[in-house]
Amino acid sequence: MALITWSETLSVNIKEIDEQHKKIVGMVNELHSAMGAGKGKEMLGPILSGLVDYTKTHFDTEEKYMQKFGYPQYPMHKTEHDTLTKQVMDLNTQYQTGKAVITVTIMNFLKDWLSKHIQETDKKYGPFLNAKGIV
Ligand code: FE2
Ligand code: FE2
Repeated sequence: MALITWSETLSVNIKEIDEQHKKIVGMVNELHSAMGAGKGKEMLGPILSGLVDYTKTHFDTEEKYMQKFGYPQYPMHKTEHDTLTKQVMDLNTQYQTGKAVITVTIMNFLKDWLSKHIQETDKKYGPFLNAKGIV
């Protein structure tokens, strides 16, 4: 996967959330560069702890807005967040307990997160929250 440049296709049109999403783009790019330099394995620890932090703060932010304004698709969105959180926790546990975690697995997971969750699921709340004055 090539390096990712932030663009409108990734924007949910809410500044605070776009800033948080840029972090995941940053992680993909860091891991990509590290892999290219043959240092992917060294990046797994920092990437995984970054993801653990990111899921907590970022999902809290989105869920707070969706709940506050009664977003109709909240239950389905929350389910996706719970699944992603569980996957991140599992990968981190595997890594921490010395089990093999494959760099490509993490890369594919991040790529999926960007292309499926952000570009499909997150994008849907954009117009709804914009209409409530969240921009
Ligand atoms: Fe998100
Ligand atoms: Fe989300």
